[in-house]
Amino acid sequence: MWGIFFEDINLGADGGIYAELVKNRSFEFDNPWMGWKKLENTPEGSLLIVNDAKRKANARSLQVNKETAFKVGLQNEGFRGMGVRQGADYVFSLLYKQQQPGLSLRLELLDENNAVIGEAKLAMENREDWQNASVNFTAGATTAHAKLNIWIEGAGAAELDMLSLFPTETWKNRPKGLRKDMVQILADMKPGFVRFPGGCIVEGRDLANRFQWKKTVGPIEERELIINRWNTEFNHRLTPDYFQTFGLGFYEYFLLAEDIGAKAVPILNCGMACQFNTGEIVPLDELDEYIQDALDLIEFANAGTDTPWGKLRADMGHPEPFHLTMLGVGNENWGPQYIERLAAFQKVLHEKHPEIAIIASSGTDPEGERFDFLDERLREMQIDIIDEHYYRPPSWFLSGAARYDNYDRKGSKIFAGEYASHTTRPNGPGRSTWEAALSEAAFLTGLERNADVVTMASYAPLFGHVDGWQWSPDLIWVDNLNVYGTPSYQVQKLYSLHKGTDIIPIKRNQQNVVGQDSLYASAVYDEISKELVIKFVNYNSEPVDAIFQIDTKRKINGLGSRIMLANADLDVANSLDEPLKIQPQQAEVALKGKSLAQSFAPYSFTVIKLPVK
Ligand code: AHR
Repeated sequence: MWGIFFEDINLGADGGIYAELVKNRSFEFDNPWMGWKKLENTPEGSLLIVNDAKRKANARSLQVNKETAFKVGLQNEGFRGMGVRQGADYVFSLLYKQQQPGLSLRLELLDENNAVIGEAKLAMENREDWQNASVNFTAGATTAHAKLNIWIEGAGAAELDMLSLFPTETWKNRPKGLRKDMVQILADMKPGFVRFPGGCIVEGRDLANRFQWKKTVGPIEERELIINRWNTEFNHRLTPDYFQTFGLGFYEYFLLAEDIGAKAVPILNCGMACQFNTGEIVPLDELDEYIQDALDLIEFANAGTDTPWGKLRADMGHPEPFHLTMLGVGNENWGPQYIERLAAFQKVLHEKHPEIAIIASSGTDPEGERFDFLDERLREMQIDIIDEHYYRPPSWFLSGAARYDNYDRKGSKIFAGEYASHTTRPNGPGRSTWEAALSEAAFLTGLERNADVVTMASYAPLFGHVDGWQWSPDLIWVDNLNVYGTPSYQVQKLYSLHKGTDIIPIKRNQQNVVGQDSLYASAVYDEISKELVIKFVNYNSEPVDAIFQIDTKRKINGLGSRIMLANADLDVANSLDEPLKIQPQQAEVALKGKSLAQSFAPYSFTVIKLPVK
């Protein structure tokens, strides 16, 4: 039930979890020099961008023409700098061809004061064809804002491309892989699923710039980058250098999900671009290509290696299937146009892949109520899972704890696919405060109590980079070196780590605990650990002694544990300086019988785990 929503927003992928340190490594951004500058005294004409249309997705490269007398070099600024650590190893790599021999590369890693903190040399052979080369070197200091100088030495003519710098230590030490600390914080949540790749980037600002999974698999130098949907002014922030290079593509998303024990939940474009942008819509008679993308994705994920897409999966390193069971069609699309396109997908998918559950997007209206039109149609269509989104104030989350108590049990299930409590923002965007997190904890008691109908839930967005974000609050914040979980992360993690297999009714004064006296509760039994797990939110500034009843035949069998997040000040938040200001505190607890009395701290979220027989 408890999963994560991944989107390349706020430098979540490029400049974030994808550990590449060089920005615009293949000169394919709209402005090919973005992220780069020529170093001093580099003569005009010695470094030129050339375009070879035959190389299709990666047509541009850097042409070097150099005579001995000149100094020629270029510098990359990284994604808001490059995060490097003293003593850590880095690998510089590139693709090149050298038509006229005699050139070599000298690399310098600089700190923010331009002091050299790492150096390496790379000889280049005489090659007519593109070839790979790489060299490793160690950083001599730690900085979040390093830069890379690439000096070209000797005399000759060459073309350079895919100029790249990665730490050698990545998640599972995969070459050109993911930032280890950022994956670890996700793995620590033990999420049940990873939804990817968004969000609005599924839709794109227009259809040409929609997320097309086929362009994100295969050799990375052949993946065609596009402008990120979040390369736009949002929250009064402009991120003009935001592109998707797709080093983190669909194969890597599947692998990430598998690595952390989660189900992969891909969402595909339904033939509609983002309705907050151009809202471009593909005519129904041209929708086949989009539906074929879905069929081919299922083949890529699940089919044998004797199929074209299954073979590509195997060639990329994963002959075993990824066991895809769910597929999202569309993200926050609405209107009859969405229903028509969804119906076309549904018809084909049901016919060819009845084993795949379809997730359809419903969203919420500004008041937080369901889009009635969509909801009705989606239920009529017997869509397997309806994806609802809510970005609302804490008060909405508190009153929403009963949202699904009377929901129709027959038919579609609910995926609370994007949610976050947004505190008021007098001076700008919301922060992820304890107030936001505690109101989410209260709301989630309602999702857990209704887990028979709400089968999946994920907070959004996942990551925010302190030096380059469009949207706040986010679940996890990073800079180029560090990562921390917000109070909302701590809440999500407690739900995810202490989930159950069966819902157990929990009452206070014979009623569900959904906000009376500002208290909220849910309970589950976990048949794997043989524990009763009770979650309790006290949304009062005072401690509360409460008696509540649990309806179970099982008997408490010994001492239990109590894990608590609490702070009397709702405005506190975690930060890079104080990453664990809100963190779980654990204690033993002794409770007996069916009527349980407990004292709850002011503004607290408590998980009580009791062994039962
Ligand atoms: O999570 C940020 C954005 O919110 C998502 O991209 C979109 O689906 C929603 O509007």
